Amino acid sequence: MPETEYILEMRDIVKTFPGVKALDNVTLKVRPGTVHALMGENGAGKSTLMKCLFGIYHKDGGTIIFDGQEVDFKDSKEAIDGGVSMIHQELQPIRMMTIAENVFLGNYPLGKFNLVDHGKMNAETSELLKEVGLSISPKTLLNDLTVSQMQSVEIAKAISHKAKVVIMDEPTSSLTSSEVEKLFEIIRQLKAKNIGIIYISHKMDEILRISDDITIMRDGQYVGTWPASEMTTASIIHNMVGRELTSLFPEKTNVVTDEVVLRVENMTSPNHLSFKQASFDLHKGEILGIGGLVGAQRTELMEALYGMRGLDDGKIYIKGKEVKIKNPEQAIANKIALVTEDRRYNGIFGVLSITDNASIAALKQYVGGFGLLNEKRMNDVVDSNVQRLRVKTPSNKTPIGSLSGGNQQKVILARWLAGNPDVLILDEPTRGIDVGAKYEIYQIINDLAKEGKSIIMITSEMSELLGVSDRIMVMCEGRVSGFLDRTEATQESVMTLATRFMTENVEE
Ligand SMILES: Nc1ncnc2c1ncn2[C@@H]1O[C@H](COP(=O)(O)OP(=O)(O)OP(=O)(O)O)[C@@H](O)[C@H]1O
Ligand SMILES: [Mg+2]
Repeated sequence: MPETEYILEMRDIVKTFPGVKALDNVTLKVRPGTVHALMGENGAGKSTLMKCLFGIYHKDGGTIIFDGQEVDFKDSKEAIDGGVSMIHQELQPIRMMTIAENVFLGNYPLGKFNLVDHGKMNAETSELLKEVGLSISPKTLLNDLTVSQMQSVEIAKAISHKAKVVIMDEPTSSLTSSEVEKLFEIIRQLKAKNIGIIYISHKMDEILRISDDITIMRDGQYVGTWPASEMTTASIIHNMVGRELTSLFPEKTNVVTDEVVLRVENMTSPNHLSFKQASFDLHKGEILGIGGLVGAQRTELMEALYGMRGLDDGKIYIKGKEVKIKNPEQAIANKIALVTEDRRYNGIFGVLSITDNASIAALKQYVGGFGLLNEKRMNDVVDSNVQRLRVKTPSNKTPIGSLSGGNQQKVILARWLAGNPDVLILDEPTRGIDVGAKYEIYQIINDLAKEGKSIIMITSEMSELLGVSDRIMVMCEGRVSGFLDRTEATQESVMTLATRFMTENVEE
């Protein structure tokens, strides 16, 4: 093969952390103008490999050939200057900066008297924003952007640095479908510029749609590389987990009863700004999925139910009795638990060990509210869930902050699943989690429902919504647009309801 076939070759890369061989002779060869998917279970070493390329970590062995030359970037600035850009798994832009300042961070154009030339900076940023399809002012603060917009800014930044390789580590984990489509459009443009894109994701359907080549890793080792066209979901999973996974969803064993555990009537946000007139019932033993597009206000409605937001109107009944829920303590006292969408920011005590995170004092105050709970029992349940979810870690004493992204989520989720609420609200419970662990989470959700708990699950993954829910409530623009029974729900029927109240000019 000619030298020039690859824009990037990582050969025999080795990286060791105390107690873990995170990378054991890993190979990755990326062709220019293609999307190269990097896949593997949580903790397989994907982010570590990318951090070694990007100068965040330093490899212990191996060679990196980039654009025909051997490189070893000492930090990310050098990597960016050299032509590599990275959109991180945990996006951490500097929120109080404007878009333009962020794009030019560390490379401000200087004008007269060596002052930063804001005019030039803003004008150039405007052009870049156009390229990534963002029609907002370059003077907007990062803080005011959605995750999808922040990502587009990061991509604009990559283009401005004339990147030849762009790494995207789980770029769609916080995006809903229309934002994903926008990202894919931008990716196509990057391909057309002959840029090589390394794409990390746990979403099979995306991988099969967008990638040209697929490299799979398992336990820090290289498994192989294939043209995406030769792969199927089954063959990818087989290579990732090293065993056969016959079904993506466990068989349903829960029984939905007639007993209404929770009734919500006419919940309306202050000034009708978010959700309005939302009413629904939740039955004992039921898994109610909530579907909808970005902006449907699903999270907001659930936060209100959990007492985190004010209401203009609305009634909540628990087992037929009206209750007031004005703060999370009252929600907990009524045996409602909420696992939030932003676990990374809300739920993790990074420097504490897994065991501490699973039995944290702050949690006792919450869980204590359930009354019945025995702490030892909870720790046992957390431990067993941590094992079921196969958290990859050297020991339970390891600080949770050094776990892989998906493994951190597993620990937090295990902790919450071990609580003893009657109503468990899960907001995007499998975000960033690998296929094997997803199955285990569905199984745990099923088991909880089988024990007579009631589950509300917000999810943006259509297959999960259809595969796990007994019944689906769909929201559109803050309103409940309809309910679908498990037997009648299809992708089409969900999408029809998800766009039901949209007028043409609001639709993206
Ligand atoms: N800074 C660190 N200190 C110690 N161990 C680390 C550190 N960074 C990563 N590891 C370990 O290296 C291994 C690989 O982690 P990595 O983050 O690369 O996984 P990943 O494939 O990106 O997983 P995910 O899909 O969950 O994001 C894990 O066992 C992780 O705990
Ligand atoms: Mg990762």
